[in-house]
Amino acid sequence: MKILKTNRGLQNNISKERNNKKSIGFVPTMGALHDGHMSLIQEAQQGCDVVVVSIFVNPTQFNEKSDLEKYPRPIERDTAMLKEHGVDYLFLPSTTQIYPKNLAPTPKINLGQLATTMEGEHRPGHFEGVIQVVHRLLTIVSPDQLYMGQKDFQQFTIIQAMLNQTNLKTQLRVCPIHRQDDGLAMSSRNARLSAAAKKKATAIYESLMYIKNNFMTTGRDQLIKEALEIQKSSGLDPEYIDIADGHTLQSLTDLRKAKYVVACTASWLEGIRLIDNMILRKEDEY
Ligand code: PAJ
Repeated sequence: MKILKTNRGLQNNISKERNNKKSIGFVPTMGALHDGHMSLIQEAQQGCDVVVVSIFVNPTQFNEKSDLEKYPRPIERDTAMLKEHGVDYLFLPSTTQIYPKNLAPTPKINLGQLATTMEGEHRPGHFEGVIQVVHRLLTIVSPDQLYMGQKDFQQFTIIQAMLNQTNLKTQLRVCPIHRQDDGLAMSSRNARLSAAAKKKATAIYESLMYIKNNFMTTGRDQLIKEALEIQKSSGLDPEYIDIADGHTLQSLTDLRKAKYVVACTASWLEGIRLIDNMILRKEDEY
């Protein structure tokens, strides 16, 4: 595995791969890697000749300074994991490589209502930062395929909107949520939870399963009320649970009519914010 810290270094290598007619798959991350990230890497390896992984803890997408400061950065462990999984290139840029002084502004993306709900509502400025960094990374790497996780449902939806509105030639591939055996969605933030909290956090999955198992027979308000109760009775402090249209991300009141339905939640435990979601129905392809 080659480790590259500059845009030029990475681009020189990618140009050579392209000259050899290799397809490029790209997995952007913020590190503290886990099996969820590895599942994206495996899909990239199946779909492309060459796989580039980036680790960059992007300051512009953190709306809370303490969250940025406390974000885990186990770089040696991450590097070893990527080597072991046969990744071709690890891109480890500094902040000045990503955001040099003379950088052109990110193109304006019209998100309509996509960023007004859920994470967009509760983390002001977050998606502007995500769009900025993903656009910048795609400009540097120019991959054929971009691999992102369903774990961040609103994030991939917004990145798809960005790809639709720019002339970037990358295709988005969305990979399923990788969970522990007890249902807890893998996340870099789980590393900051105590052992007892990790057990309590499985109530997030249970609350989503409750919605999934009952959404054909129970109304929205009752589903959300019960699901909040499942989380609270385990000691979680839910920020929101929403049942939304999977395309527009707007809250749904009549769950029986919609073709693409997703339940999303964010919940606090030991001062750490965890997110998860579950697709309840999907009749057509994204
Ligand atoms: P990060 O949280 O490191 O996640 C990187 C990618 O891994 C994202 O596409 C995310 O959805 C995916 N992922 C995380 N946990 C997963 C799980 N349990 N199963 C499957 N996929 C999972 O998301 C970001 O970083 C950043 O916002 C980034 C896109 C890199 C921009 O800075």
